[in-house]
Amino acid sequence: MNKDLFDFGMIGLGTMGRNLLLNMADHGFKAIGFDKDTSKGALLESSATPGTTVKGVNTLEEMIKLLQPPRKMMMLVPAGKPVDDVIQSLLPLLEKGDIIIDGGNSHYTDTLRRLDYLKESGIHFMGVGISGGEHGARTGPSIMPGGDPEAYKNVQPILEAVAAKVDGSACVAHLGKKAAGHYVKMVHNGIEYAIMQLISEVYDLLHNGLGLNNDELYKVFKSWNDGDQQSYLIEITRDIFLQKDDKTENRLVDMILDKAGAKGTGKWTSQDAMDIGIPITVIDTAVALRSLSAYKDERTQASLLYKTSTQSIEAPREVFIQQVSDALFFATIICYAQGLSMLHKASTELQMEIPMPEVVRIWRGGCIIRSSLLETFFKAYTANPELPNLLLNEEIAQLIQNKKQHTRAVVMHATQTGYPIAGLMSALSYFEAYRTERMPTNLIQAQRDYFGAHTYQRIDMPGTFHTEWESH
Ligand code: 6PG
Repeated sequence: MNKDLFDFGMIGLGTMGRNLLLNMADHGFKAIGFDKDTSKGALLESSATPGTTVKGVNTLEEMIKLLQPPRKMMMLVPAGKPVDDVIQSLLPLLEKGDIIIDGGNSHYTDTLRRLDYLKESGIHFMGVGISGGEHGARTGPSIMPGGDPEAYKNVQPILEAVAAKVDGSACVAHLGKKAAGHYVKMVHNGIEYAIMQLISEVYDLLHNGLGLNNDELYKVFKSWNDGDQQSYLIEITRDIFLQKDDKTENRLVDMILDKAGAKGTGKWTSQDAMDIGIPITVIDTAVALRSLSAYKDERTQASLLYKTSTQSIEAPREVFIQQVSDALFFATIICYAQGLSMLHKASTELQMEIPMPEVVRIWRGGCIIRSSLLETFFKAYTANPELPNLLLNEEIAQLIQNKKQHTRAVVMHATQTGYPIAGLMSALSYFEAYRTERMPTNLIQAQRDYFGAHTYQRIDMPGTFHTEWESH
């Protein structure tokens, strides 16, 4: 062990890479970072906490030479080709046993391909999801590693040191085989999209429907965050309402164009859920609504054509706010239930062996979807790690039962007054279908058999049947 060598290397010193590396240094690890842009290396060094060991270099060769073998390094570069390019540049410089971590939002199939590609070389490759944004990277993110458990053991002390802590336990755990880390992070992001969609709908109802101004919205969100809806997304939304615009006299939120961006993880979640046959309707809706938001010109035309005027919701203010709060709570549980049911299915379907109690344990802190609800989910999965759907847990069923009437009331008010609440509606409809013992799908089977002889099963005897339907 050479005391002059560094414990961990970071490739890509953007805000995330820099902050995570500084976080490692704050925990006593000797940290070295590479970026082609020399100003980023300089910024890394100048932002380091005094007394910590941090170095920025601008060639990969130098970084690799200065790392303690087996070399441990992470890349935080944009997903896609940049990740393959870094791997290509690293290969001639590395030795058997070295560990490369991809800490970005890579698609899990890319991670599978890279694992396969690097297998022969003896170099360990790990796909690791990291959540918490720039601030989280510096102060404690939630970290979702997957892949080779032996490689994980080598980096475990560093990841545990830098991760967020809840009740003294680090928000990091080995989350399964192969590309499990990136798969779990993708679904995390899908849930993130869905909850953000729900919050935006609730904002619309309270702001345009009930006429609450930003200060009043702040108070409502504050009371939710101080109560049973404590979560990171509610907390930042509360604060967003107070932010002043530095270019006008207005609040910033009122000056932001209503087109939502997306880097793709939400869409991947929907696509992959379809592939494994798991309904995640609120996530699908959230992805679709972000897409719809991009069609600003068409929406403007349509608003003129349909003479849309915002209608006020005629309901007693405090009563409606309580109903909206309950609807958001209800629908948020549905988002988690859908995303986690997808992970449960993927665990076996894609042979990832994802430990569900660990997933919810490490989402309790550091990540964007952290929420006090995660404690309840943790209890549910600890009691039954094979729970196929959170809605089947009795404690959660009780929460849902308590909120469902208010959710129905909000959906009714909103649809009567013409507010788009696709997320809330799809959460409610999913619930109504999920709790239905006999769905109307018998009719779909009849239709399929009618026009395509696709056959059907019967409720009263086993076997597969076809009927020569009489057309009238
Ligand atoms: C996180 C986030 C992060 C993601 C952003 C942007 O967990 O810290 O999920 O990884 O990049 O949320 O995602 P979109 O641009 O797709 O909204």
